[in-house]
Amino acid sequence: MGGKRESIHGVWSGRLAFVLAATGSAVGLGNIWKFPYIAGENGGGAFVIVYLCCIGIIGVPIMMAEVMLGRRGRRSPINTMRHLAREAGASPHWRWLGWAGVAAGFLILSYYSVIAGWALAYVWRSAGAMFVGATSEGVASIFDQLVTDPERLIAWHTLFMVMTMTVVARGVRSGLEKAVRYLVPALFVLLIMLNGYALASGAFDQGLEFLFTPDFSKLSANGFLIALGHAFFTLSLGMGAIMVYGSYLPERTSIAKTSITIAFLDTLVALLAGMAIFPIVFANGMDPGAGAGLIFQTLPIAFGHMAGGVVFGTLFFVLLVFAAWTSAISLIEPAVAWLVENHGMTRVHASVVAGMITWTAGLLTVFSFNLWSDFHPLAFIEIFRTATLFDLLDYLTANIMLPLGGLLIAVFSVWVMQRDDSVQELDMGDSAGFRLWYFLVRYVTPVAVIIVFLNVTKLVNFSALLGLAE
Ligand code: PFF
Repeated sequence: MGGKRESIHGVWSGRLAFVLAATGSAVGLGNIWKFPYIAGENGGGAFVIVYLCCIGIIGVPIMMAEVMLGRRGRRSPINTMRHLAREAGASPHWRWLGWAGVAAGFLILSYYSVIAGWALAYVWRSAGAMFVGATSEGVASIFDQLVTDPERLIAWHTLFMVMTMTVVARGVRSGLEKAVRYLVPALFVLLIMLNGYALASGAFDQGLEFLFTPDFSKLSANGFLIALGHAFFTLSLGMGAIMVYGSYLPERTSIAKTSITIAFLDTLVALLAGMAIFPIVFANGMDPGAGAGLIFQTLPIAFGHMAGGVVFGTLFFVLLVFAAWTSAISLIEPAVAWLVENHGMTRVHASVVAGMITWTAGLLTVFSFNLWSDFHPLAFIEIFRTATLFDLLDYLTANIMLPLGGLLIAVFSVWVMQRDDSVQELDMGDSAGFRLWYFLVRYVTPVAVIIVFLNVTKLVNFSALLGLAE
């Protein structure tokens, strides 16, 4: 049983520490930066409904599966998969699932760090009162000046990578646990305040309507895949981040309860962010589909006009950096844990190696916003007509690698691993809750992921069959 094994990297101090760390991993740029802009690009309400269904029906069960595998394996995802496959008498090739996760983590962190660098840059802009009284054109030009300057982007990206690797080098427990304890509540308070501003903006209803009134004629097949991919991305699923955190989880912690708590908090942050941003978009006549710069071009307007905006704005971007920081750590942890286990490296050495690879890959994203902004390598495919390298990296990781990783985690957990072992590890007995989990992971997740993939490739056009948008 899992409890006989201990992770060589140590364990969390308790359930709360795990919840905080996993929430720190889940809540990040995905909630505040990405969710609003992809909801905006994909028509709002219908996208949000599909995303919420994916969180509840696929995300929570897969999170439970990942934590369960991690806790049973007690090693980095690569070695956990190898070990659990052996235990179940299955092919050692399952370890490739761990490898795919490590690759996804590197690729995601490469662009994640660049965007987190924008947030860092905005801390100074806000503290320097650059947004006071700003108009929508004013903030748009501040944003353009930043992203069109590769040197500045590289500097911020470098700073963020150094911050990330410093914490990773120190190990799971010191620093990380404490940061999240204050960060998540503080983020809630600020988002609620921003909602207060949005409420007074005169377009709150319009913002809510955009976000919550579904119009399925606006949701394309690709939009479905983006909603599914985002459910994985925002909960940090499908690549081993939650699995590796699960491997540090003490025995006898309820995996079901913790997973539901984490998913709930994560969703709340995303919805609060959306409810703060869209009213500002509409009140200022901006375009909800403006893309990756959306929060950087909307929230500064709010900070520029509210009392105490310099302080609150600065605090907000500081919190955003923290949220990104606690997620970034989990993106690289599977790779670092593996380097320590299999190459006998110290954590410091492993962090430097992993950090340098990621930093280099990050240059692709840096240049996507300036020198290579007209480079659209897959322009011959309709949905990628205007996609830059950054867009493609994001699409490949969030919409393809994570759902596929999640699909394989589901298959392993309930088709390969012994049912008795999962009963024991989830510690729910053979209850109705366990059976619901088993059913969702065994049938619903695989079928849903496959349908969404077939639909986007038009191999089977479910959207047309249901009369939805193409
Ligand atoms: N969940 C993080 C966010 O929403 O910002 C991003 C992320 C972290 C994705 C860790 C995947 C991961 F493994």
